[in-house]
Amino acid sequence: MSHNVVPAALAIVLSTTLVFVGGHVEVVSSFLPEPNQPCEVFPILNAVGPETLAFDRNGGGPYTGVSDGRIIKWQANESRWINFAVTTPHRYGCEGPLDHTSTEPKCGRPLGLSFNHNTSDLYIADAYMGLLVVGPNGGLARPLAKEAQGIPFRFTNGVVVDQKSGQIYFTDSSTRFQRREFGFVMVSLDKTGRLLKFDPTTNKVTVLMGNLMFPNGVALSKTGDFLLITETTNSRILKFWLEPTKAGRVEVFAELPGIPDNINRNQQGEFWVAVNSKNGESIRYGLAVKLNENGDILKTLEDKTGKTWKYGSDIVETNGYLWIGSVIVPYVVKLKISS
Ligand SMILES: *[C@@H]1O[C@H](CO)[C@@H](O)[C@H](O)[C@H]1NC(C)=O
Ligand SMILES: *[C@@H]1O[C@H](CO)[C@@H](O)[C@H](O)[C@H]1NC(C)=O
Repeated sequence: MSHNVVPAALAIVLSTTLVFVGGHVEVVSSFLPEPNQPCEVFPILNAVGPETLAFDRNGGGPYTGVSDGRIIKWQANESRWINFAVTTPHRYGCEGPLDHTSTEPKCGRPLGLSFNHNTSDLYIADAYMGLLVVGPNGGLARPLAKEAQGIPFRFTNGVVVDQKSGQIYFTDSSTRFQRREFGFVMVSLDKTGRLLKFDPTTNKVTVLMGNLMFPNGVALSKTGDFLLITETTNSRILKFWLEPTKAGRVEVFAELPGIPDNINRNQQGEFWVAVNSKNGESIRYGLAVKLNENGDILKTLEDKTGKTWKYGSDIVETNGYLWIGSVIVPYVVKLKISS
């Protein structure tokens, strides 16, 4: 554990605090990308923080979870967000221009989203409600798991479905701190994070790895022979082998120039990682890296001005575009990939 992580972690806690103090549910105009930027913007009203983006098998969406606990879907033919699902029936007092950090333990905070494209079921990692699933028509999601080995999840975060086997891989970032205390996970050097597997045929949860320092996003390789897990506090990505001859083996896949959040694979088998903060610098700009299957950085996507995008949490590549979600801002951004 290197010491230079701590200043970076403090920087992110401080910047985030400042943003939250500013009344983060209003769409502050200076928050939105400036006019004439080469991007398309999808503003969200009365909520913030589209942390993860997912598309259904028809390319519909994105779907994303926001600060008031809703999962919303971008309905392209109507040019608006529609309500898709919720993770708890207790919705009284959840919505509206409030500070949702105080209501999220009751209202839910959906983070990771991943479709099983065979069944069209959407799997949800909700920071407070655990692992859930909802069918293609949305509505109230059904809880699947809230604990493993007798220890409750406290900060369920990333999820990915293996499209071949139907197995679900997900992370619990900490068993000590909640999502709204995420800064403490870093500054306390918390090591209680876990990588987990849910088997939908038996409803059993297995702990694949423990003692992780803020495990966050999770992605599967193109052939399904390994998983990648971003370990936020350690600024690195771990590789967990699934392929039978190496199953359970763990390697460091890549060290990153900042604090990683979510990770996603593209069609080519490369990975996009959203990075927050670079060597303790301000995080008021956008940073993402693309890695190949060996963990080499192929490309760095940077918006030093923060004018087009910033505070990225999730980068999803589809059909020549990058879609960018953020746990802080009230919009999703779509950029054309420059060749
Ligand atoms: C948009 O598509 C949805 C589902 O495909 C449909 O239910 C809805 O009526 C469409 N809206 C318009 C305005 O065409
Ligand atoms: C796809 O779904 C069908 C029915 O929902 C199921 O019988 C089949 O096993 C699934 N296949 C995979 C690969 O998950």
